[in-house]
Amino acid sequence: MCGIIGYTGTKQAVPVLISGLSALEYRGYDSAGISVYEEGIITIKTEGRLKNLTNRIKAGRKIKGHTGIGHTRWATHGEPSERNAHPHLSSRLSLVHNGIIENYQELEQMLSSEGYRFRSETDTEAAAHLIDYFYKQSKDPVAALHAAARAIRGSFAFAVMFKGDRENLYAVRSGSPLICADTPNGSYLASDIPAILPFAKEYYQLPENVVAVLSPKGINFFTADGAEIIPEKSQITWSVEAAKKCGYNHFMLKEINEQAEALRNTVLPRLRDGVPYFDCDILDRNIEEIGEIKIIGCGTAMHAGLVGKNVIERFARIPVSVEIASEFRYGNPILRKDTLVILISQSGETADTIAALELAKSAGAKTLAIVNVLGSTISRLADYVIYTWAGPEISVASTKAYTVQCAVLYQIAFKLALVRHQISEGQCRDLCERQANSLPAAIDAALKMSGRIKRLSEKIAEYENLFFIGRGIDAEICKEGSLKLKEISYIHSESYPAGELKHGTISLIDANVPVIAVITVSQVLDKTISNVREVKSRGATVFSVCTKAAAEAVEPMSDYTLVLPETDEIFAPVVAIIALQILAYYTAVARNCDVDKPRNLAKSVTVE
Ligand code: AGP
Repeated sequence: MCGIIGYTGTKQAVPVLISGLSALEYRGYDSAGISVYEEGIITIKTEGRLKNLTNRIKAGRKIKGHTGIGHTRWATHGEPSERNAHPHLSSRLSLVHNGIIENYQELEQMLSSEGYRFRSETDTEAAAHLIDYFYKQSKDPVAALHAAARAIRGSFAFAVMFKGDRENLYAVRSGSPLICADTPNGSYLASDIPAILPFAKEYYQLPENVVAVLSPKGINFFTADGAEIIPEKSQITWSVEAAKKCGYNHFMLKEINEQAEALRNTVLPRLRDGVPYFDCDILDRNIEEIGEIKIIGCGTAMHAGLVGKNVIERFARIPVSVEIASEFRYGNPILRKDTLVILISQSGETADTIAALELAKSAGAKTLAIVNVLGSTISRLADYVIYTWAGPEISVASTKAYTVQCAVLYQIAFKLALVRHQISEGQCRDLCERQANSLPAAIDAALKMSGRIKRLSEKIAEYENLFFIGRGIDAEICKEGSLKLKEISYIHSESYPAGELKHGTISLIDANVPVIAVITVSQVLDKTISNVREVKSRGATVFSVCTKAAAEAVEPMSDYTLVLPETDEIFAPVVAIIALQILAYYTAVARNCDVDKPRNLAKSVTVE
């Protein structure tokens, strides 16, 4: 996915565009570009990181203009290059795009027959020429964008400037995010909130297939049938500081350290009389309609779903299955009328999860979204939405979003268990109180162990292959710990149920393949210790992460032992993941990796 910024108003456009692109660089960073209206449309674009663009701009003459658009790219069609960078131009316009145009070859054929010449390998250039084609006929920018939106299959968010129209920007979206804001010094558009944080306190989420016309004086919105509408405004609850690093070296470390606060912010507002209240029918009034639950997500969000499965089945005794969104959407799933489909997504814009949501809805299942971004596509498409209030998560590697997703799933488990009389009201209150108070305290205590964890990381950083093992919910935590380590340190790691390793994979264990054992579940402590003994006897260096209760048995079997701060065993896995996040972070730092922007990755995968 890509970053889009646009501005028209009383200020010089270039500083606003660069500021916005800097805030959006986490969305995509293999090339960047801007267009500004001076006497005509001036366009500058460069390959590589944003600094290449800012250096090019500084090296040239000062570009003066009050209207412009900008873009940071995460390539989907056409390798990262200046030629493929946005903005893309046509005879009468300049355009930036986020999304994927599925029928771009078909459009290219039609446009080529109309005399258009293609200079790039991107799908986006087809959109630029298509809008130009319709604009040539109608001489009406709004009509041209609507016509193009109807002709395009796929996902798009466009921001467009037309030659001869020096003050206005035009925008339309379908499937990709776009927000806009009107302020006393002009109008802004962006693909995400951090880009407009310094300039605006509230914003419009641009509705699907509605064209926004931004002028220095304000924004007008037009539907395809020409009606003018005024969308609902959302407040920006994030401070400018919250979207900055606040003194940490990386956004990831800042966000790891925000987890106790994020957990409190997410859990406490949902307690009424000490038990969870979600302000959504399916979990507050129609809960008996739930016969089974499917939890769907991608990557870390899916891993939170695995924790959700464990705790919902444990406390509420409702059958839960967890599915990878990209598999679910093509898997012809079996959905019953009493199936509750829970979709988890930090960004609320992940294409595969959106598609899974739409499939579930079309099959008549009730859909509940757990998302972190207000007004995001998934939050608006689902029947019900529970927001996690983790604040902006900028680092590509998700940490605090995962923890608060787990926290919400624990609360759902407690609520379902209470309503289904699996636990008493007093037990429910007690669980909720401990989750809201002792768990954040344990998380803060784990954060204070960073120095010790950092020393372990420096040993782990020397390896190229590694295993995580655990049993029960610890096996689910291992999956997330393994993903964290892989995606930012580039160490190949696998997570494996501890009891399964001996069925083949243990052949990979030797002195060059260390094992991280996560041990918080007392019920299977002895079994997991046996598994640790098995890998040790084959030469593995063992790093154990365990509860205090397990430490006495674990330490003699381990080369290094990290004893977690005291907390309920129920919540111990959530404390364990904090340690694994810190472990991954410092391992990546020790390996000089780009922690916040790992190679090949982007913060939200809004393409298939
Ligand atoms: C997590 O560290 C990864 N960056 C990735 O797996 C992410 O969790 C996944 O792409 C889902 O994103 P979402 O939560 O925004 O839907």
